[in-house]
Amino acid sequence: MAKIKERNPNASLSSYEIALMAEVVLPEDIKVGFEDIGGLEDIIDDLRETVLYPLTLPGFFAKNSPLLQAPKGVLLYGPPGCGKTMLAKALAHESSANFLNIKISSIADKWFGESNKIVDAIFSLARKLEPCIVFIDEIDSFLRERASGDHEAMSMVKAEFMTLWDGLTTEGRILVLGATNRPNDIDSAFLRRMPKRYAVKLPDEQKRKKILKLMLHGTTLDPSFNFDKVARQMAGLSGSAIQEVCRDAVMVPAREYFQKRHAEDGKKFVPSTGAGDNESLTMRPLKDTDFFVDSAAAKSLNDATGAGDVLGLD
Ligand SMILES: Nc1ncnc2c1ncn2[C@@H]1O[C@H](COP(=O)(O)OP(=O)(O)O)[C@@H](O)[C@H]1O
Ligand SMILES: [Mg+2]
Repeated sequence: MAKIKERNPNASLSSYEIALMAEVVLPEDIKVGFEDIGGLEDIIDDLRETVLYPLTLPGFFAKNSPLLQAPKGVLLYGPPGCGKTMLAKALAHESSANFLNIKISSIADKWFGESNKIVDAIFSLARKLEPCIVFIDEIDSFLRERASGDHEAMSMVKAEFMTLWDGLTTEGRILVLGATNRPNDIDSAFLRRMPKRYAVKLPDEQKRKKILKLMLHGTTLDPSFNFDKVARQMAGLSGSAIQEVCRDAVMVPAREYFQKRHAEDGKKFVPSTGAGDNESLTMRPLKDTDFFVDSAAAKSLNDATGAGDVLGLD
């Protein structure tokens, strides 16, 4: 809150805005940059042109052609765990925009009956935080077309949201960025307001290899480590599933280390923080054969290949 005041000393906030402030992340507090994202270079390049530059250089775009303005809405869609949230955060980080992270399900629960006021507050707060990326995660759950017709209250909220969205002035540096696992559930009126859409798909083998390299950066690898082989074994996995599988793999040499220490030191081996010289704290390098060896790894493979979807989990 203090930081917002520093940026905008005239900002005085309503109680709804204050509540929303809990969802604001300042760009300097976001640790994710484009370089941390694997295999989405094409999308990143495009986002740079269509979103990043207009947010950071509004003067250039206003002066040269109104056609160059940033779209007011951008949609990221695709299966869970493939980097949508990461991309949104990295965009805020790289553009030095504030990041207002709205998860509709939590708002709907917390603010039942007051949704209109919170929608007003989202946009009024975004104005005070300009440049600001309003990230609406699970945008489908807010905007889903219901076969039976909407509750009246919800359609009022939707209408309010669209009015405020349309009212964003073109020179304003506010972007509504939506993310969804279910693009087909999004209201067509909302889709029209998000003309820029990016499919963040499950990574193919080359992309899995890039993600794998990012995840294993900082882990000592055996010289025989074969990235291609592991990337092939990971067919069908999302970025977040790859991360889980890597964690399981690194546990293999870690477990060996603890077992060895235990056998050597017997009862004397008591892990204590900061104890021991560096040499004795080193585990063996990670090998590609450490992947997919235990049941936990098999389980994440299962989850990632869709077993979880049946249960509606992500
Ligand atoms: N393309 C990727 N590159 C690097 N890490 C990834 C990638 N995709 C997913 N991850 C990892 O999985 C986690 C979850 O990804 P997230 O962006 O929340 O997915 P989504 O929003 O699409 O469900 C990230 O925090 C990151 O650790
Ligand atoms: Mg997400």
